[in-house]
Amino acid sequence: MLSFDQVRDMLVSSDAESCERLRRAADDARKTCVGDEVHIRGLLEISNHCRRDCMYCGLRRGNKKVPRYRMSDEEIIDVAARLADSGIKTAVIQSGEDPALNIVRVCRLVERIKSSFDIAVTLSLGEYSREDYASMRSAGADRYLLRHETSDENLYAALHPDSSLANRLKCLEWIKDAGLQTGAGMMIGLPGQTIDSIANDILYLKSFGVHMAGIGPFIPDPDTPLGNAAAGDFDLAMRTLAVARLTMPHLLIPATTATGVLRHGGRARALQFGANVIMVNATPDSFRELYKIYPNKDRDEPYSEDPFKSARDMILSEGRIVSEGYGHSPIIFGTRNE
Ligand code: 5AD
Repeated sequence: MLSFDQVRDMLVSSDAESCERLRRAADDARKTCVGDEVHIRGLLEISNHCRRDCMYCGLRRGNKKVPRYRMSDEEIIDVAARLADSGIKTAVIQSGEDPALNIVRVCRLVERIKSSFDIAVTLSLGEYSREDYASMRSAGADRYLLRHETSDENLYAALHPDSSLANRLKCLEWIKDAGLQTGAGMMIGLPGQTIDSIANDILYLKSFGVHMAGIGPFIPDPDTPLGNAAAGDFDLAMRTLAVARLTMPHLLIPATTATGVLRHGGRARALQFGANVIMVNATPDSFRELYKIYPNKDRDEPYSEDPFKSARDMILSEGRIVSEGYGHSPIIFGTRNE
């Protein structure tokens, strides 16, 4: 197991030669342990209402500039049907922390989707109770994403005026205990974040035993208190992906939207640094531009009329294979190559 110092050293070595060596090592580990397949997920952002006031996020309740929307169950089912029809094997259903998404409604929705379509369901709806996560699993949900955002307690407190790192980590335990494939992760380049704290993030992901990790650069949103802060460093985000892959070779690692927003070609680059998942935005156009976590979030990259086709093209042009399976965690399903 890599030590804190080893992880830290890989993150700080920013010269081109060290980066390329790290990239190659991560790419080899990726190929050996999870192969060339890249899993495409359809991302559906069902509501931008949020009861939280996170300092970095454009959906924070204090942002009065963004018009709020909520998709109806029928609208959500329609998108799930379209995804399943076009051979997409996972729907990622994401939302702000919307009180209207009570557990009864969430479970009903998951049950409807799972009984109607051949599709895995990933939920990403924020913090709930232990009992609620267990109910989501019983309703048929397969996975749950809840980034821990940062493992630095002081930084966490400064960025999240109405929640705590302790509760966040408790939620992650509950999610895992419920039998959901569990995803955490963090932003890179948050104001006040140090390399040590990113090294600790990676060691946290490892010791917790996550199945998935979403790692992307921080992008300042002008409608938040951090609007004037600098964006995260793209190369540091890439090195973090690589170190995550080396530390946890069987992980599902998305080439996050934020990497593509920060830099043109960013998601293809992420695939070279250990990523093996792409999330494609399937939110209906009328809502998409309102789910503004950060600027240009709605402009999926590479942008085209058919973003699923561009994702497939990108995967192929990287010499990789478009997965036709569900893309479940090999850790849970016991299918890992050693
Ligand atoms: N820049 C980059 N990522 C962000 N997120 C929220 N706000 C920003 C931002 N300004 C990330 C958080 C959250 C995920 C859905 O989006 O990590 O968990």
